[in-house]
Amino acid sequence: MNDKIAKYELLLKQMAEFNDLEIPNSGKICSILSLLKDSLDLFWIGLYMKTNENTLGLGIYQGLPACTLIPYGKGVCGTAAATAQVQIVDDVTTFPGYIACHAEAASEIVLPGFKQGNVSFVLDVDSKEIAAFNNTDALYLGKVVNILETLLLEP
Ligand code: SME
Repeated sequence: MNDKIAKYELLLKQMAEFNDLEIPNSGKICSILSLLKDSLDLFWIGLYMKTNENTLGLGIYQGLPACTLIPYGKGVCGTAAATAQVQIVDDVTTFPGYIACHAEAASEIVLPGFKQGNVSFVLDVDSKEIAAFNNTDALYLGKVVNILETLLLEP
């Protein structure tokens, strides 16, 4: 098992332990994002929530303050939301319409999350390293998105 898979497997076990805790779901989501950021040495990780038909708004995150509003279809996040497809960007400077919230971010993966079959948020993950993300990240972060989908149903 490679290092990245082993880390994700451990993270999923740690996340499962939150299930029985009687804390608000917002606290569980903060903790999940913090675990991922710390373990995977991420630069920034957070949620952008669909606030209306045209806009994503900054939700729970870990890292520096970030852009608050992203138009649907713009940047990596807006593209993931508009297409409902995972976006993996090896070098953010090459992505048309990339929204640079931080100069330090070099690569990015964004996954859509769903409510009743429609995109309701995206999980945005940024690294300082070029090409930090691949299909292994898409697979495991997809499992994290499924956990977040459940936690986001209630405060
Ligand atoms: N780079 C993103 C914007 C969000 S920040 O990375 C936190 C984008 O192009 O959608």
